[in-house]
Amino acid sequence: MSKLALITGANRGLGLETARQLGALGFEVLLGARDARAGAAAAAKLREQGVKAEALLLNVASEPSIAAAATEVAARYRSLDVLINNAGVLLDDHAKPPSAQSLDVWHRTFEINFFGTIAVTRAFLPLLRAAPAARIVNLSSRLASLTLHSDPSSSIYHSKDAAYNVSKTAVNAWTVSLAYELRDTPIKVNAAHPGHVKTDMGGESAPVELVDGAKTSVALATLGAEGPSGSFIYMGEVLPW
Ligand SMILES: NC(=O)c1ccc[n+]([C@@H]2O[C@H](COP(=O)([O-])OP(=O)(O)OC[C@H]3O[C@@H](n4cnc5c(N)ncnc54)[C@H](OP(=O)(O)O)[C@@H]3O)[C@@H](O)[C@H]2O)c1
Repeated sequence: MSKLALITGANRGLGLETARQLGALGFEVLLGARDARAGAAAAAKLREQGVKAEALLLNVASEPSIAAAATEVAARYRSLDVLINNAGVLLDDHAKPPSAQSLDVWHRTFEINFFGTIAVTRAFLPLLRAAPAARIVNLSSRLASLTLHSDPSSSIYHSKDAAYNVSKTAVNAWTVSLAYELRDTPIKVNAAHPGHVKTDMGGESAPVELVDGAKTSVALATLGAEGPSGSFIYMGEVLPW
């Protein structure tokens, strides 16, 4: 029987490419999407490429939506092998300094990037515990690194989209906390930086192609028993917190 992976925000961008690559490795993939039509179209596209893919209606900012999705998956499958918390938004106004971002931007960013990650994980944890050795991957960003943000010589020193960056720093802290909680289980939980990738979020001039951007998530989703847990990784390298 093939392993089952759920990827949130999988109707486009890195989520869709990650689903495609896991599908090519033989995973059955559930494409989380907050828009049913966009999810169905993405799943149909993957099925045309030979991937066992289905859409799952899942708005990570809505507790009823998350609960309904978890109920549906539990009714159809005994366990979940991989959860990739990929859905994310970057809402900061680049022209404004950190203190001038509106509180509304902070709230909406945290709702999806941070609380969404926690809520989805909590809902699917029973199914993940039921798998032999589940993997949880949280999409973070190099922009989450406090070490790099404090270093004037770092290339991200001036990239202060504060609401987005801080939401991903919080995702990293959550990753460490959950990895601690699960340390005596076979489950591994890690934070991934995908690179600066050509997607709607990353922009057309981003240096990393989509196919390479998904590689870190795929690697962390398929880690062996010897792999890390509670780490912050880009392409096999540990990033500074
Ligand atoms: N691209 C980069 O350079 C880069 C760098 C570092 C980290 N990341 C992280 O990688 C992840 C994927 O980014 P991306 O570049 O693929 O972004 P993207 O192209 O903008 O795609 C974002 C995805 O998240 C979904 N999403 C947003 N809010 C959602 C919600 N409430 N519920 C469910 N899905 C929701 C979107 O769905 P809709 O189509 O419905 O909007 C879309 O499928 C994000 O967490 C991002 O922060 C990206």
